[in-house]
Amino acid sequence: MSDHQLKTYAKLCTEFYDLEPHHNAAQAHAFYQERAREAHGPILEPMCGTGRFLIPLLQAGLDAEGFDASPHMLSAFRAKCLAVGLSTPPIWQQFVQGFTTSKRYALIFIPYGSWGLITDAGQAYKGLEALYGALAPGGRFFVEIETVASCPQPTGVWRRGVHTRADGSHLAVNTYTAYDPTTQLFKARCRYESIVNGAIVETETEDFEQYLYRFDEMDKLLSSVGFADIKKYQDYNSTPAIAQNIHTIIYLCTKE
Ligand SMILES: C[S@@+](CC[C@H](N)C(=O)[O-])C[C@H]1O[C@@H](n2cnc3c(N)ncnc32)[C@H](O)[C@@H]1O
Repeated sequence: MSDHQLKTYAKLCTEFYDLEPHHNAAQAHAFYQERAREAHGPILEPMCGTGRFLIPLLQAGLDAEGFDASPHMLSAFRAKCLAVGLSTPPIWQQFVQGFTTSKRYALIFIPYGSWGLITDAGQAYKGLEALYGALAPGGRFFVEIETVASCPQPTGVWRRGVHTRADGSHLAVNTYTAYDPTTQLFKARCRYESIVNGAIVETETEDFEQYLYRFDEMDKLLSSVGFADIKKYQDYNSTPAIAQNIHTIIYLCTKE
């Protein structure tokens, strides 16, 4: 993926994302709220999306900000902020790989499977280097990855998901998935349909790709960038990640 324009997370995808229930959402929110309250200094959420995590931190008056490559996700973020009286949220459009700043953050966190959306190894390294540079000495970096064991099975079949909007109209997605174990790339061809009074009034296609990490792969990547004291957890209770077949890993590391 280049630094020019994100081809995913467009208009209907953004709307669908916000209608979806998210796995372990309550625990994840509580976990990062707590980490944010413990941070002694500025907080950054790269790939912040529509603000599921960041908006509650802003509402709590914390010194937090974020960026995302999708203008649609950021528009939804701003609309949600307006609805709760946060007029100018500190967010901007930005790719992780091109991020530079003179600011130094006490906490940087990337929840859920977002990191795997950077599917090229060189770009992932560049992104981690950028975040390492932005972290204050002693600062903490949390990043979650999805493992090769998480690949939704079976692949090679069509799936359909439908949500009902508040006005009674529908938003559907048809998804065809594939996984290549040699490249560790999970791919989904998605076709979104906005359905009003039984008629499809708008469609959007998306080629979604996510890199799935082997169990120890991210440890090596983080340490090659310079991160220290690397710990990995399998859940938000900080249970050490030991079993190779877990689906997600929460990494915590620091800058010395
Ligand atoms: C799965 S969403 C997660 C958003 C948010 N963290 C959450 O959990 O609701 C992933 C987000 O990463 C953004 N994204 C993908 N690649 C990116 C990149 N290279 N740099 C910055 N943002 C990116 C997408 O636009 C999308 O909003």
